[in-house]
Formats: sequence, C-alpha cells, structure tokens
Amino acid sequence: MSKLERILKRVYEAPLPEAADLERLLSLNEREDIEAIFSFADKVRREFCGDGIALRGIIEFSNFCQRECAYCGLNKGNRAIQRYRMSKNELLKAVKDLDCRNIKTVVLQSGEDSRLDASWLEDVILEIKSGFDMAITLSVGERSEHDYRTWKNAGADRYLLKIETSDEGLYSSLHPHMDFSRRLDCLRILKGLGYQTGSGNIIGLPGQTPESIARDIIFFKRGDFDMIGIGPFIPHQSSSLAGRQKGDPLLSLKTVALTRIVTRDTHIPATTALGSLERDYRMEGLKCGANVLMPNFTPRPFRDLYEIYPGKKCVDEPVGECDICTQGMAEALGRFIDHSRADSLKMRMRQVSGALPR
Ligand code: 5AD
Ligand code: FES
Repeated sequence: MSKLERILKRVYEAPLPEAADLERLLSLNEREDIEAIFSFADKVRREFCGDGIALRGIIEFSNFCQRECAYCGLNKGNRAIQRYRMSKNELLKAVKDLDCRNIKTVVLQSGEDSRLDASWLEDVILEIKSGFDMAITLSVGERSEHDYRTWKNAGADRYLLKIETSDEGLYSSLHPHMDFSRRLDCLRILKGLGYQTGSGNIIGLPGQTPESIARDIIFFKRGDFDMIGIGPFIPHQSSSLAGRQKGDPLLSLKTVALTRIVTRDTHIPATTALGSLERDYRMEGLKCGANVLMPNFTPRPFRDLYEIYPGKKCVDEPVGECDICTQGMAEALGRFIDHSRADSLKMRMRQVSGALPR
C-alpha cells in the first residue's frame, strides 16, 4: 500500500480524522495523487449512495436580505439589484412545474428576508403537502425556534443552513453582526426538531487556509449532517469581496472528495457554484463524491435577480433545459436519475439528538 493509500484509509476509518491528514491530502496537486483521492471517493459514493443522482428543484422565492455577508450579491447594501418576493401563486406554479418533471424534492430558498412571515410560509408548506407527493427543504436562514417548529409541524422535511466556514474568526469577519454560536444554536434546534439538516462551506474565501478547510470537513463529520453543499467562492461586484480571487475548482473538488470519504453516507450536491466557474465542473463533482444535482425552477424574471454571485449556471438556459442537462450528465457517467425523494441516508441510524460540535 502506498503512503497516500495509507492516509486515505486512515481518514476513511477514523471516528474523527486528523486535521493534519486532511490538510496534507488537500495540498496534493500531482495528477496521479488527485486521481487516487477521487477514485477512492467515487467508491465510497457508490457503496453508500449507489449510482442514482438525486434531484432537488430549487425555487428562489425572495431576494430580500437583511444580512451583509461579505461574499454575497444579495447583501442588503447592494442597491444595484431589484428586489422581489414571489407571490404564493407564483411559487405554487413553480412547484407544479417541478412536479411535472417528476422531481420529488423542492428547495424553497430566499435571502434572510426579515419580512418573511412564518405563517405565510406555513401555508405554502401545507399547500404543497396537500397537493403533491414531495419533500420540502427550507433554506431561509436563521429564524426563531418557534418558526422552525411551525414549519416542521406543517410538514417541512429538511433545512439547509450552511456554516460557510467553521473558522469562527473568519466567520465573524465575513458576517457582520452575526454570531457563530447563534448559527450553531440554530443547527442544534433544527436537528432537535427532526429536520434532515444540511451544512456546507465556500472554498477559496479570502483569508481561508487549507487547515481551515480541513477543519470544515471535521465539522461536517462531527455534525453528522444529512447533506453537505460545497462550492467555490465567486466574487460578486456589489459585495465587499468584489474583485478578489475566485475559488480554485480543483481545491473545491478535493474538498468534495474528502467530505465524501470522511462523512460517507451524506447527500452531496454538485453545486451550482461548481457549475458556474470558467466552465461547468459539476460532472467532475459527480465523479469524485457528489450524488445530487439542483436544477433551478425559479421562474423568470426572478431567476436573473437572484444573483448571489455572477455567471450563475442555469440562469440563461431555457425552461426544460435543466432536465435534458441532468439526464445527459447521468448518462455520460453511466449512472441514472433517481426520481425518488431521496431522503437522508442516515435516518435509520439516528435518534433525534442535538449533538453538534462546539
Ligand atoms: N460565491 C459562492 N457561493 C456563494 N454563496 C453565497 N455567495 C456566494 C459567492 N459569492 C453560497 C453560500 C450560500 C448559498 C446560498 O450560496 O454558501 O449558503
Ligand atoms: Fe444574505 Fe448572504 S447576504 S445570505
């Protein structure tokens, strides 16, 4: 066994991997080393997730945001974008589009819209649940325990609240007026309420080190998340990180691969950000650990206005294109589109608990 294989095995088998091992793997850039990491991750993906590619249709229903995240184009200081909130009817129509294409998970995402009314979203959830056989993932940021409970009781199944970086100092510098411990509290509450919970990070944030990414992967392992979204940083011209360097696609792919190896049975999307660099790297993502795609179902004209970062994949594609595109990717890989809800792979094993890293 080569030295690299030994480290990979150690990282895979350890209850909690060593940051130094992960950092070392992240720093490898020789082609054959990368191939060894990717093929190990692909095997783990096949063993724990199979060959199905799960689909999550995303609807971005409001781009209002009260936050000032340094990387994000929706930050409240950005006066250059037109803000929108979709109506209930517009939203339900988009859900219908997704249902027509036989997609069984809808992700309802918005900026952290302070005017998002909990009972409005509750009604939306109830209507979706009564009209469609569909899992609902919410991604609307930090809210009160009361709101999280209301939506869970209405039938929401999953919640995405990415940590973005597990490095508390970096987190604070990128998120003015936000509190790292509050974010962890939200995650604990969500898990305690029984949501299938998603985390994730951004790769290539200014100030982020390989050690910090290694610690993100350990954070994912300790958090026992159901889903983990990893994407490269893409600078937005109307954010405080305008003009900074983009995240490296290879480093993003290595992070996907190592997250798969370490966390094993999680849903990991080939994220839209991975598809939005100088070329589309989602196929590579699917080859090194990812098992999910997230086609965009936000109707026009809203779709163009949900500009978290520029050059977002799927924005210019005609309606229905995502369908052909995801099918094509699956076929090219000798895999298939999984049209089930694709619930958490770890549901059976977990008792509802709030265990999360400190
Ligand atoms: N580059 C890459 N990803 C970003 N996100 C927000 N802004 C950017 C950016 N500039 C990601 C965050 C957020 C998700 C909706 O989009 O991870 O959670
Ligand atoms: Fe709102 Fe980033 S500015 S989530």
